[in-house]
Amino acid sequence: MGIPVRTFDAVVVGAGGAGLRAALQLAEADLRVAVLTKVFPTRSHTVAAQGGVAASLGNSEEDHWHWHMYDTVKGSDWLGDQDAIEFMCRKANEVVIELEHFGMPFDRTESGKIYQRPFGGHMSNFGEKPVSRACAAADRTGHAMLHALYQRNVRVHTQFFVEWMALDLIRDAEGAVLGVTAMEMETGEVCIFQSKATLFATGGSGRMYYSSTNAFINTGDGLGMTARAGLPIQDMEFFQFHPTGVYGAGILITEGVRGEGGVLRNASGERFMERYAPNAKDLASRDVVSRAMATEIKEGRGCGPNKDHVLLDLSHLDPKVIMQRLPGIREISMQFAGADPIKEPIPVVPTAHYQMGGIPTNYTGRVVAPRNGNPDAVVPGFYAAGECACASVHGANRLGTNSLLDLLVFGKAAGESVVEDIKALPKSPKDLPKDAADYSLARLARLDGQANGEGVHEVQLALRRAMQDHCGVFRFPDMLKQGVDKIMEVAGRVGRTEIKDKSKVFNTARIEALELDNLVEAAKATMVCAATRQESRGAQAREDFPERDDANWLKHTLWYRDGNRVDFRPVHLKPLTVETIELKKRVY
Ligand code: FUM
Repeated sequence: MGIPVRTFDAVVVGAGGAGLRAALQLAEADLRVAVLTKVFPTRSHTVAAQGGVAASLGNSEEDHWHWHMYDTVKGSDWLGDQDAIEFMCRKANEVVIELEHFGMPFDRTESGKIYQRPFGGHMSNFGEKPVSRACAAADRTGHAMLHALYQRNVRVHTQFFVEWMALDLIRDAEGAVLGVTAMEMETGEVCIFQSKATLFATGGSGRMYYSSTNAFINTGDGLGMTARAGLPIQDMEFFQFHPTGVYGAGILITEGVRGEGGVLRNASGERFMERYAPNAKDLASRDVVSRAMATEIKEGRGCGPNKDHVLLDLSHLDPKVIMQRLPGIREISMQFAGADPIKEPIPVVPTAHYQMGGIPTNYTGRVVAPRNGNPDAVVPGFYAAGECACASVHGANRLGTNSLLDLLVFGKAAGESVVEDIKALPKSPKDLPKDAADYSLARLARLDGQANGEGVHEVQLALRRAMQDHCGVFRFPDMLKQGVDKIMEVAGRVGRTEIKDKSKVFNTARIEALELDNLVEAAKATMVCAATRQESRGAQAREDFPERDDANWLKHTLWYRDGNRVDFRPVHLKPLTVETIELKKRVY
């Protein structure tokens, strides 16, 4: 087929927390593993996670994995799969302690234990009162975690392909995944990575929104590749808006600020969360707080000359707490908002942050897609973990700090599944189809040959505007309908983008065009599923269907690129060992 083929036991795409945790499992099992990553591993987006990783260690007050499970099911508005949630919450202590032993520099309590702080939606005794469950390294937990995991991988000689972008999945006629095509950014060389197991840990798609806490690299690459390969992506309508992005800049201000005692105030200085969530107040779950903030702004109680943001007030905290536990936040606030939080409040707005949906997997990290009447049929050779995957532990709304936990638990579980599955396979990998690279080569040829097309940035801006305006914190029927039309029109334009620079060496214009091919698939899935789901649940708040509707909508959506089609899959309501957490109204 004329292009180089590199053969490995396993290929991991993405070197954030999930990719590194999975790769570690594979390399420690002596498998030949290649990790492809667009950026140097320690620059992956996990580096931006601030407030903590959830585990019911109970280091400063009583806690239990079952309470954590209850909170996660409730936080998910009952759309999370309860088998996967039990698995994650039970494993939390093990993976966090393991990380501590890898050298993660957690903050410490006076007695030397891992420091834990409260976070939104995490409560003791099945919803009673906020509990300290977020294990933190100041406000740089993701940074510390990524470095600990990278160093551990270096120790076991994991092979990294840095500044390589995966292009497309390779599947055989039976649907099994046989590897990926990929491009080296430095040279523009295209290559096939053939493998017995392909594990996606490509992160989220937050760049689909105009105002986002996400890094530029978060362009839904795994989702685009999965959708183009004919597989579904799940629950994409549930996009989380983090309550506290810096007004005007979008940069994350950790929920840990409220965990340490910070409060949200409106224009008259009122601590308005007391009205919306009398029990948990500022530590209600994110969808609840973001909607409360948007309502304050909509009803004229916003701050500033345009009444378009609210204030996050820490000025009553001991400056020592800010300096010791929130040093990065102080720096961000001074740099991007011109406000020193020791003396003045930080202007904040809800900002697109996290995609709850993704590539459907079971709790072992194996990718699933309905086949022959089985909604949970495994796709052979294909695994996913972290934000690109939908296990589904977050359901309709994720609790803060469950993302770092998700990537540790499911990165490790997916790695273990690969090791187990590979043992049962023949020594040599399956033969590649003759046309394995043709699709990717045709995409590249289209870009090189395109004349009279549109610039990538123009089209990308139209996409991000459409998502921001039509699929935000609150969703309106007419806006969603127009949003679907707009995003389909954008998709047509994505197919005609033109790059002026056709050179091969470090051609970032070509990379951005390829990223846009992925982002548009994630955006179509999000908009179409938001228009399809006729209820309000978690992060999906529809003006025309304000209530949760379990009779008709307690099910996962599956979006297929072919035919822009939506199908459904049942929610797993049965946990692994305990009783089902029964449905009830969600109040904080
Ligand atoms: O607020 C934060 O520190 C973000 C954490 C998360 O998204 O889990």
